[in-house]
Amino acid sequence: MEDLPEEKRRRQALTWALALTENTPMALAEQALLERYGCGELSLDQLLGLLERPVHQVLYRSQATTPLRDDQLTDLLEQAAAFNKKHDLTGLLCYGDGRFIQLLEGSQQAVHTLYAKIRRDARHQHVVTLQDASAPLRFFSDWRLAFVRSDPLEMYWLITHLEARHQHLVLPQIPITHPHLLTLLAAFQARAQPSR
Ligand SMILES: Cc1cc2nc3c(=O)[nH]c(=O)nc-3n(C[C@H](O)[C@H](O)[C@H](O)COP(=O)(O)O)c2cc1C
Repeated sequence: MEDLPEEKRRRQALTWALALTENTPMALAEQALLERYGCGELSLDQLLGLLERPVHQVLYRSQATTPLRDDQLTDLLEQAAAFNKKHDLTGLLCYGDGRFIQLLEGSQQAVHTLYAKIRRDARHQHVVTLQDASAPLRFFSDWRLAFVRSDPLEMYWLITHLEARHQHLVLPQIPITHPHLLTLLAAFQARAQPSR
């Protein structure tokens, strides 16, 4: 291995890294960083610096005060995306059956400042925090605020699974197919595993 030229070793490291992260919720942005390292655009130090930027995540659920119309939702999403872009925040908002689930990710300060504002927003109530912790990476790094509209059954199972994740209950297979929701479930269920 030591005799291999630098470029070949880079490519080998990249092949390993991509193989190891296949079928994991690693976001496109991290894969893009690995590829940039693979073609020599980034040094190993630069790659690690970018991958290790601390990410904080807040996940919560809440109840809409009154059901939101489509135009109200569009306004909310447009304003949120503009703010989130300005503050390097990413995440997911899921709405259905008069309920919200939101994941916010970014620096701890940006996430906490926005979450404090969101908690006071009169458009929803009964805000319950499901997670407030640092994370290994962003799961929605390509989305300022990805949006999924869910039906009542999907919402029920999503909340049940997210709330039960620390209890390691064996829950039934759930009828969820949207890729964003599968990412959310995979990300949070994986982190609820007991440490080995
Ligand atoms: C369920 C829900 C999710 C929200 N998500 C965001 C968000 O991701 N980003 C954002 O800037 N505002 C979001 N908002 C709106 C904020 O609560 C707030 O209205 C907005 O930041 C403007 O606040 P300001 O007028 O005090 O500046 C959300 C509101 C609700 C009800």
